[in-house]
Amino acid sequence: MNIGILGAGNMGGTLGRIWAQKGNEVFFGTRSPEKALELSKSVNMRAGSYDDAAKFGDVIFIGTPWSVTEPMLKALGKHLAGKIVIDCANALGPDFLSLAIPPTTSAGELVQSWLPESKVVKAYNTIGAKVLLNPNYDGAIATGFYCGNDADAKKVVAELIAQSGFEPVDCGDIKQARYLEAMTLLFLNLAFKQGMGGQIAFKLLKR
Ligand SMILES: NC(=O)c1ccc[n+]([C@@H]2O[C@H](COP(=O)([O-])OP(=O)(O)OC[C@H]3O[C@@H](n4cnc5c(N)ncnc54)[C@H](OP(=O)(O)O)[C@@H]3O)[C@@H](O)[C@H]2O)c1
Repeated sequence: MNIGILGAGNMGGTLGRIWAQKGNEVFFGTRSPEKALELSKSVNMRAGSYDDAAKFGDVIFIGTPWSVTEPMLKALGKHLAGKIVIDCANALGPDFLSLAIPPTTSAGELVQSWLPESKVVKAYNTIGAKVLLNPNYDGAIATGFYCGNDADAKKVVAELIAQSGFEPVDCGDIKQARYLEAMTLLFLNLAFKQGMGGQIAFKLLKR
């Protein structure tokens, strides 16, 4: 699969490397020429401008800070029409324990509204960047919750979640992003206010 990564930071940089190791062709969009050079040295990995990453990918991963995401997506929208767009954003407030958007919407819904011709799938927002490196907790596999409106796009994203080592769980349409994003507040509370640290992860039990 051809994957374009917008922003090679904690989330985009780490997931891009993982997906490249699994045999996907990954193109990182970055503002930094030095980072682009470094990222281009590994197998299945290339790097360049955000524009080029958006054009390259059949699947696009948004890895930018929430504050810059709207203008960026509106500028790149023409390259993203018809494509699968993975949104992992949490629109956090300045205290990092609340959301900066009202509970009647979500980052996932807003991203879908800014890219009406793309198939937006919310995923990875409940997962801390450090956990991406190892989702296996003594044999218990952390859950990768996702949601979106397009069933085929969700199948593709579920496969990418599984490739990255998580157990994919479909949560329904893009409106469910409201609850996935609220889960992040619980994650941040537990990890940093209650002192459990950034290696905690959610696991859905079923029988
Ligand atoms: N960190 C986590 O644990 C975590 C977990 C779940 C979800 N998320 C979500 O993932 C998204 C990215 O978070 P992150 O932690 O990966 O962020 P990060 O490490 O700061 O990376 C963000 C990247 O965005 C790019 N960027 C483009 N314009 C920028 C600007 N004006 N200012 C700063 N960076 C800019 C930069 O990449 P280039 O320099 O390569 O252009 C930067 O490396 C956020 O929406 C966040 O809510 C994060």
